[in-house]
Amino acid sequence: MNLLKLKWYYASAMIRKLSGKDAPAIYHIINQAAVAYKSAIPADCYHEPYMPEKELRHEMKNMTFFGWEEAANLVGVIGYQPVKDMTLIRHAYVLPDYQRTGIGTRLLDHIRQMSKTKCLLVGTWADATWAINFYQKHGFKLLTDKDKLLNIYWDIPQRQAETSVVLGINI
Ligand SMILES: CC(C)(COP(=O)(O)OP(=O)(O)OC[C@H]1O[C@@H](n2cnc3c(N)ncnc32)[C@H](O)[C@@H]1OP(=O)(O)O)[C@@H](O)C(=O)NCCC(=O)NCCS
Repeated sequence: MNLLKLKWYYASAMIRKLSGKDAPAIYHIINQAAVAYKSAIPADCYHEPYMPEKELRHEMKNMTFFGWEEAANLVGVIGYQPVKDMTLIRHAYVLPDYQRTGIGTRLLDHIRQMSKTKCLLVGTWADATWAINFYQKHGFKLLTDKDKLLNIYWDIPQRQAETSVVLGINI
């Protein structure tokens, strides 16, 4: 990348807090990125759209979403949800064409900097090995008491809990 392109990239790329107006873009990103789960997670846990509009609206009420924007287009999102004494990372998704370019890392770093709790937790499908690798690469450890943690900090269906893992990091 030459200097001019690099300057343009940094001038046009940023993280911002998302609002209700961003719901259609968040919906698009989550459901495009979640196609990675197809044939990876148990068939009875995958459906399309992966996150219906009603569920997204509900989730947006319960947490703060941040997004990575490039040239005025939202291409990645992450949810930040303080619960009790923990901060949960929720719904981290990057559009397929932008994955593995460092956007997820920037969004994760942003949440780490914002977090007011000592520990960050994230839950994901046990079969989403790429997502587990992503968090482990950033220092998260798989936690053995995941059933207890899911019960205390999450409100998810039993089947999802059975097929999920929890990773955590002290910050
Ligand atoms: C997981 C996700 C949010 C990470 O964001 P990202 O911008 O792709 O991640 P980064 O570029 O910052 O980091 C890349 C690292 O993540 C892991 N990773 C991400 N996607 C991967 C893939 N398809 N295959 C293998 N590893 C992958 C690897 O460790 C990779 O490092 P490497 O490229 O050096 O091997 C993104 O890939 C995504 O949206 N995936 C599909 C949905 C998903 O699994 N969401 C997680 C919900 S908890």
